[in-house]
Amino acid sequence: MRAKVSRVPGPKSKKALEKMQRLNGGWGLPLPMVFESGQGSYFRDVDGNVFLDFASQVASSPLGYNHPALSAVLKNYSRAPVKIAGQDFIVPEHMEMIEELVNVSPPEMNAAFLVNSGAEAVENAIKSALRRCHGYYGASFEYAFHGRTLGALSCTNSKIVHKAGYWTFPIQRLPFDERAPELLEEMIKREGGAENLSFVIVEAVQGEGGYNIAPDSLMKGIRKVTRGHGIPLICDEIQCGMGRTGKWWAFEHYGIKPDVFCAAKALQVGATIANRSFFPPEPSSISSTWGGGSVIDLAMGAATIKAIKKERLLSNCTRMGGYLLKRLHELAAKHPEVTGPRGLGLMCAFDLADKKARDHVAEHLIANGLVALGAGRKSIRLIPPYTVSEKEIDEAVEIIDKSLVEVRKERKPRGLSPVEHAI
Ligand SMILES: Cc1ncc(COP(=O)(O)O)c(C=O)c1O
Repeated sequence: MRAKVSRVPGPKSKKALEKMQRLNGGWGLPLPMVFESGQGSYFRDVDGNVFLDFASQVASSPLGYNHPALSAVLKNYSRAPVKIAGQDFIVPEHMEMIEELVNVSPPEMNAAFLVNSGAEAVENAIKSALRRCHGYYGASFEYAFHGRTLGALSCTNSKIVHKAGYWTFPIQRLPFDERAPELLEEMIKREGGAENLSFVIVEAVQGEGGYNIAPDSLMKGIRKVTRGHGIPLICDEIQCGMGRTGKWWAFEHYGIKPDVFCAAKALQVGATIANRSFFPPEPSSISSTWGGGSVIDLAMGAATIKAIKKERLLSNCTRMGGYLLKRLHELAAKHPEVTGPRGLGLMCAFDLADKKARDHVAEHLIANGLVALGAGRKSIRLIPPYTVSEKEIDEAVEIIDKSLVEVRKERKPRGLSPVEHAI
């Protein structure tokens, strides 16, 4: 298959997008096409355009479209209900999912609490930390993104639009660089001692904030400081976890273990994962009607973990990530406007001069058949499925190359580029 686009948005997509704008309460900036069906790394829209998808449903479709292992799961479910009150009524899928998840986690992380979204996973990590440490504030990082519920949002620091007008909990901010461990020590002293700090939360690779890869000294240093003071360290693995970086969890690249971590997106359900003793001891202190979401999501998540293992997709993420990064360096050598190519496994990005230039390029990528999202102020992130091939990466690089040439010739954007919305 290859990408093939005639007009974006095509007439059917345009009509549907206009209707959604009227109907959708939380209107964002959706991509300018309406999805119809997909296969592997490609999808077709309702107007017949075929796109190469290097956005993977914002990292939540790790096996690409219509993976046989997931299609097989779907065949098993033809009866209602598929939504269960997962903390009250146990189904085998719930147990199997937790077992699969803890089997790919460090041995001491032997329990998981399942919820409906990434933000809720963060929320429950925070709540569990608060039950242990009765401080009055938490710490997160500049440019962090942890979700949109109020607790998670308070830890978020990537864009003003996420936070403007909403209440915020007491969170202090650390820089996302090697100064962080020392500044954390200073913060602890300044705020009257370690007992006042309830948790530190970090993404080893920042997603929405710009695909920034934490330096080794940051992750190791904050682990040392938090461990020294008995402060829970939360790793948010919602975008960078579940194998995308070539290891199950991005914190493993640093040889550290958090006290608790959060997964969602590629896992198909939200999960807070820790040692059993980390969770509140009283029943119902944390809960949720749909804890675990739908039976199908649970089965899909467990099947995703099994397929990643069976098809050795972690090593494909490492190999293909290395290949994509090499090709991005070649692009940067050819096009001076491309800077900062970076990546860990299949979590890759590059920068353009500013937001306007980034959006202009992204608009051409879409018109040429490559779906890629923005991140941070001026980055384009590339997150293909774990099954991606060298041939598909070559096609993506060809489209980026062509788009950069077109942008240089064209004075102003066509106003097509809604890449900023997604996280
Ligand atoms: C690192 C990170 N944390 C938390 C979230 C929130 O997840 P959700 O949108 O499922 O609530 C996201 C979502 O993009 C994320 O990338």
